[in-house]
Amino acid sequence: MRMLVSGGAGFIGSAFVRQAVGKGHNVAVVDKLTYAGDLTRLEEVMDDITFYKADITNKEFIEHIFNKEKPEVVVHFAAESHVDRSLMDPYPFINSNVMGTQVLLDVSRTKGIDLFMNMSTDEVYGDLGKDGTFTEESPLKPNSPYSVSKASADMLGRAYYRSFGLPVVTVRASNNYGPWQYPEKFIPVIILKAMNGEKIPIYGDGTNIREWLYVEDCASGIMAVIEKGKAGEIYNIGSKEERPNIEVAKAVLTILGKDKDLMEFVKDRPGHDFRYSLDASKVKAEVGWTAKTSFEEGIKKTVDWYVSHMNWVEEKKAYLSEYWKRAYAE
Ligand code: NAD
Ligand code: DAU
Repeated sequence: MRMLVSGGAGFIGSAFVRQAVGKGHNVAVVDKLTYAGDLTRLEEVMDDITFYKADITNKEFIEHIFNKEKPEVVVHFAAESHVDRSLMDPYPFINSNVMGTQVLLDVSRTKGIDLFMNMSTDEVYGDLGKDGTFTEESPLKPNSPYSVSKASADMLGRAYYRSFGLPVVTVRASNNYGPWQYPEKFIPVIILKAMNGEKIPIYGDGTNIREWLYVEDCASGIMAVIEKGKAGEIYNIGSKEERPNIEVAKAVLTILGKDKDLMEFVKDRPGHDFRYSLDASKVKAEVGWTAKTSFEEGIKKTVDWYVSHMNWVEEKKAYLSEYWKRAYAE
């Protein structure tokens, strides 16, 4: 297939691109290379892909890419992705995630494609208490500027399918983790801080729950949906591996052989969603996909990867320290 992957230099997008190239697909990537984008993630496949550094809100340039690449499938990951940043400044989230998605959908519609995979998130459903799970039929009740921007992008995909017949398939995935995740997200923050003997900020009382999905599983789930899913449908992709944040931090500290005293409870994230949980039975029944990696296996592989790639993580620190100063300011 001729694929155009937006956000392919990001954490999940690059995992998808590596898999797609491995399967023999013809891949072009468009990425703005924001602070979160990094071509190092694509080093091993760079000779096999075409890369365009571009902002997806730039319609003229996106049209030019479509004219050159003539994609059959658009795989849309590009987004501002960090909830805490959206609380500090929502503007880039609305711009890239809403306006950018609209541009990609619109150009796809006018140029004509076979499938548009719209990457969404479990956060569009809002949060849960200790019980219950979200199905694809659950109402959307997003709570942060990030999740509102993602819900808008998700609904734009619905509108382009319903109103214009663009073949859009939507994937709503749970929290990803694994190699190459930018070290502002929880699991790499724990690893980075613990490796440097620094305090690990645990928001609130650490009881908030996330469903952790190994990134290679997420990428294979998206590939399965592209190959076997149906346009107009939504597929939840999760792992059933739910863990309170404090348990995640303890698991990482145990693997690293570090003291649990490194955990420090800090001021809670405003509007902090308590729990996400996905019912992924539809993607299993209709597409034949389930996650393969247990949390125990995935977290061990992840910690090992970071320990052997500390130079990559350290490179990001100058930028991060500025952000952390703002993020944790009272
Ligand atoms: P990421 O922040 O690691 O990567 C995002 C990529 O998009 C970066 O390479 C960045 O340069 C690029 N980008 C941002 N704005 C752009 C723009 N205007 N034009 C072109 N490129 C732009 O994010 P991620 O964690 O890999 O997430 C990828 C997608 O999956 C996002 O849509 C996110 O909302 C969604 N998602 C993420 C998770 C998760 O746990 N990380 C879970 C569910 C869904
Ligand atoms: O659920 C899918 C979503 O998962 C994606 O759509 C987002 O793009 C992705 O960033 C992620 O959002 P979260 O807010 O769940 O992930 P984050 O890694 O920021 O936080 C995970 C949990 O850990 C959350 O309950 C907040 C907490 N946390 C986070 C950080 C960064 C801490 O306690 N301390 C921290 O330093």
